[in-house]
Amino acid sequence: MDLLLETPRLILRAFAPEDWRAVHEYASDPEVTRYMPWGPNDEAASKHFVATVIVKQQQDPRTDYDWAITLREQGTLIGGCGIYRQGFGVGEMGYCLHRSYWNQGYGTEAAKALLEWAFTAGGFHRIYARCDPRNIGSARIMEKNGMRKEGHLRECSFKDGEWADSLLYAILESEWRGLSGKGNE
Ligand SMILES: CC(C)(COP(=O)(O)OP(=O)(O)OC[C@H]1O[C@@H](n2cnc3c(N)ncnc32)[C@H](O)[C@@H]1OP(=O)(O)O)[C@@H](O)C(=O)NCCC(=O)NCCS
Repeated sequence: MDLLLETPRLILRAFAPEDWRAVHEYASDPEVTRYMPWGPNDEAASKHFVATVIVKQQQDPRTDYDWAITLREQGTLIGGCGIYRQGFGVGEMGYCLHRSYWNQGYGTEAAKALLEWAFTAGGFHRIYARCDPRNIGSARIMEKNGMRKEGHLRECSFKDGEWADSLLYAILESEWRGLSGKGNE
């Protein structure tokens, strides 16, 4: 099932096989993958990511929802984002953008669209996300979308020879409806 989400400046669409090159442009950048559990990717890893996502797009029932983030005007693929079911009504959100497009509000815009989808069409009750405390841009995306900081997890992931902390943010459907003005109609 292809799910298309539209925002003022973005179109979030399903991944296609030929997207691997655009994915590789950001997924091979160590600055981009610094706080991600994966990467930096070699070409094989980027191809594998896109191929895996395409298989998951055909799942029924579906547990993982990935979108390519593209610019509405130019169609350029500038990143990826997704929601991953972690149990009944609970999903984890993630996002990643090419460095050239940071700090222009695109991450916040994509996450906003994901939350709207999750709490309307997706049938989720709670969406959470985690980020390294040093990843200020990611924490800001969550705060700007009304997610509440629920915890600071100490040394819970290991990458590049060091343990890293993680901030946990979440939002409930009822909170999202209150903030977005979309009541339980
Ligand atoms: C995290 C990421 C998605 C942010 O996307 P983005 O499009 O730059 O986010 P936005 O522009 O919507 O918002 C970023 C906010 O963080 C702020 N910010 C970013 N870096 C900052 C810093 N070092 N210090 C202070 N503020 C910072 C920006 O000013 C902006 O806040 P504002 O709107 O209040 O001014 C992007 O940096 C990215 O793809 N990083 C690599 C992958 C990644 O880490 N993903 C998240 C894993 S948890």
